[in-house]
Amino acid sequence: MAIRNLRLEGDEILKKKSREVDVIDEKIQILIDDMIETMHKYNGVGLAAVQVGVLKKVIVIDLYDDNGPIVLINPVILKTKGEHEVDEGCLSFPNQFAKVVRPEEVVAEYTDREGKRMKVKAKELLAQAICHEVDHLNGEVFIDKIIPGTLEYVEPEKN
Ligand code: NI
Repeated sequence: MAIRNLRLEGDEILKKKSREVDVIDEKIQILIDDMIETMHKYNGVGLAAVQVGVLKKVIVIDLYDDNGPIVLINPVILKTKGEHEVDEGCLSFPNQFAKVVRPEEVVAEYTDREGKRMKVKAKELLAQAICHEVDHLNGEVFIDKIIPGTLEYVEPEKN
């Protein structure tokens, strides 16, 4: 496994659409492992492949709960319910946080890393993370949909 370089604000690749994964081969499995390691290294809740420079529909999410990391390949949001204001950040926009409006619940379909098509009904932070990462796959970044006036820059903690 390896830490991959994060693509940051201003990198044009973040505006590009990712392509479907046809075959979950060794290369995709390595990408997934590296994405999980990279997400953990930067204490992220989610990461899309485009953020490490790969335009493939692969997402990893970890809420740091009992479920461990979740891998979503070719995810599709089927349904959303409700909406609320939430705080959000992104590993491609270090130290920046803002409020965005996200659905309270989503139903999504995806392929897991074993190639099985799955369906998930997600609430709260998981719903938010799925929406944020699916946006990345569509070339959209959270900073373009923040509630005006809510952007804050937070200095990283010094060790
Ligand atoms: Ni992000």
